[in-house]
Amino acid sequence: MDATQPAPGDKESLTLRLSEHALGYLHSAALRVAARIGIADHLADGPRTPEELAALTGVSAPHLQRALRLLATREVFREDKDGSFHLTPAAELLRSDAPTSMRDGVIMLTDETFWKPAGRLEDTVRAGHTVFDEIFGAPFFDHLARVPSAGEAFDTGMAGLSGSEDDLVAGAYTFPATGTVVDIGGGRGGLLRRTLLRNPGLTGVLYDQEAVLRHHHLEDPALAGRWEVRPGDFFASVPDGADVYLLKRILHDWSDEDCLRILRACRAAMKDGSRLLAIDAVIVRDNAPDLGKTLDVLMMTSLGGRERGEQEFRRLLAQAGLELTRVLPTPSAMSIVEATAV
Ligand SMILES: C[S@@+](CC[C@H](N)C(=O)[O-])C[C@H]1O[C@@H](n2cnc3c(N)ncnc32)[C@H](O)[C@@H]1O
Repeated sequence: MDATQPAPGDKESLTLRLSEHALGYLHSAALRVAARIGIADHLADGPRTPEELAALTGVSAPHLQRALRLLATREVFREDKDGSFHLTPAAELLRSDAPTSMRDGVIMLTDETFWKPAGRLEDTVRAGHTVFDEIFGAPFFDHLARVPSAGEAFDTGMAGLSGSEDDLVAGAYTFPATGTVVDIGGGRGGLLRRTLLRNPGLTGVLYDQEAVLRHHHLEDPALAGRWEVRPGDFFASVPDGADVYLLKRILHDWSDEDCLRILRACRAAMKDGSRLLAIDAVIVRDNAPDLGKTLDVLMMTSLGGRERGEQEFRRLLAQAGLELTRVLPTPSAMSIVEATAV
């Protein structure tokens, strides 16, 4: 038998699976509705009927029921025999009061800044570049700076997503006992906060754009006197003389050319013995499911960036005068790519 042909009976199931793949955007849309209208919060005290949920959220009960029923096929909510919906472990993470809530992250990932360019993936693949600025009139981060509501949704969503990984990343690396850590493009400061809490001998600088720093999360009595925020443009310069430079989910936003500008600014600021930690997904050539491969397409369509493999990191770092010393896995989807100045 030809091994490339599906066995009889398998063809029907493959047809169904391909149809499900083709309609995957409906799962994303239903997840966005549930996150936006706060369904998980309304189920925190127990199951509710679609009518109860609709009354609490001001939406149409029969339409809500169908969106939730779709989500229940992916273990987000569960519909019981009486038609009431329950939380599941995945739906618990959509509660806004969950310790590492995914609600803001889901709202950010399903925002039009991502799905509109994704809808034009074919144009991106044909042209070889993102069409984000054709749609929104400016590149990604310029658009966020010009439209405060979009910037706020992105920064809140990033902080939410990072909340689930920051402590796992901070705990996976042995930082020096004393010295200064600068988080370049550190957003609202979740990773810096976790790093300082775990390493009481360190001080930190949160470096990002001014509008982002206004809502930072570093105010904490446990960190009093150990941090500062500094606004700036990482293409121009970064704070100099630190012991550790963190770049989490930064390089994947940018083309190789732009990454080199950022890395050269870091290299110029580094002193003898400084380390740079690029924290991103590190892609392996296999056929396994991998969130990094999904994010890679997201970076391609909305930002013109990319996820990279170890050799790509090594080459890029070398071009900026840095040597990749090791790649450390973390219990999150992120790996730590460590480099020192050559
Ligand atoms: C994908 S987010 C990552 C945030 C954070 N490191 C994290 O992992 O949650 C990229 C960050 O880069 C910042 N950024 C973009 N362009 C910048 C620039 N030219 N100078 C400094 N920061 C910049 C954004 O404001 C944003 O906070």
